[in-house]
Amino acid sequence: MKKTFSGVQPSGDLHLGNYLGAIRNWVRMQDEYDATFCVVDLHAITVEQNPDELRRRILDVTKMYIALGIDPDKSTIFVQSDVVEHTELCWILNCVSARMGDMEKMTQFKDKSARGSAQRASVGLFDYPVLMAADILLYDTNVVPVGEDQVQHVELARTLARRFNKKFGDTFIVPQPKLTKEGKRIMGLDDPIKKMSKSATSKDNYIALMDDVEVVRKKIRKAVTDSGSEVIYSDNKPALQNLINIYSLLSGKEIADIENDYIGKGYGDFKSDLADVVIAFLKPFQEKFAKISDDEVKQILKNGAKTAKIRAQEKMKLVKEKIGFVI
Ligand code: TRP
Repeated sequence: MKKTFSGVQPSGDLHLGNYLGAIRNWVRMQDEYDATFCVVDLHAITVEQNPDELRRRILDVTKMYIALGIDPDKSTIFVQSDVVEHTELCWILNCVSARMGDMEKMTQFKDKSARGSAQRASVGLFDYPVLMAADILLYDTNVVPVGEDQVQHVELARTLARRFNKKFGDTFIVPQPKLTKEGKRIMGLDDPIKKMSKSATSKDNYIALMDDVEVVRKKIRKAVTDSGSEVIYSDNKPALQNLINIYSLLSGKEIADIENDYIGKGYGDFKSDLADVVIAFLKPFQEKFAKISDDEVKQILKNGAKTAKIRAQEKMKLVKEKIGFVI
């Protein structure tokens, strides 16, 4: 069975973009692949985190994975920092595989550090793609399902794997990125030109998976629309296109049918129905989430870490042998 690995950071609110762009695909993939899904807390601390909030979010993101349909009996679910091999392999790749020239090309670092000052960004933020490569390479991952913004990082993992293999002999599988085609289209509600993002300046940018009914209605009502008044799916109407995508993905209705339903109606009717569609998805999810206890999650994470650790240790033994450590 081919292996897949992916992860989400326990920082900020998980939102519809995370679900439609990533986690929904993971749920489908877990039947076809030997799947591992990680809560990447080591990645989260590349920017400042409040320790109590971080602790809470790690448990909550895990609960969300499960409530969204990741099944701990089918997939391995674990917290990155529970498996120290991630940091160990990251360091080794830093030294023997990654070059400054690779890292200076990383556009996400340039974007993120430009928002603050590059001088004040953590060294970890700069090195984050190497840690991500370590995550992927530790588990002989064949396929990495990611959004468009992470493809460059998976490309780096490919480069580091190839370079290591060339220098030390076959050690790592060279992974493939797998783009989610609808997911990359989930854009911000307040700015349909940019991806929906939990680090957006306004919470009106996204619908968080934990938003309550009133907040969902308000955010959709406030969502930017295009000029005109007809509900049609066109590149000239990027805001509406995004809202129709969300409607279609959550309801399973074809885009053409949605357009048909709103002939002669306006944005207001469409938005009010879209809110119903979103709420019909979020409600059962939130109920499932509420039923999962912290203790249950901790047990699932403990089991997941055990499985992940066995695999990671085996890989690290090989890596250390190759590079000349005594084991
Ligand atoms: N960097 C990814 C993000 O921010 C999360 C991530 C960390 C990841 N390690 C990974 C994704 C390994 C896929 C595979 O979205």
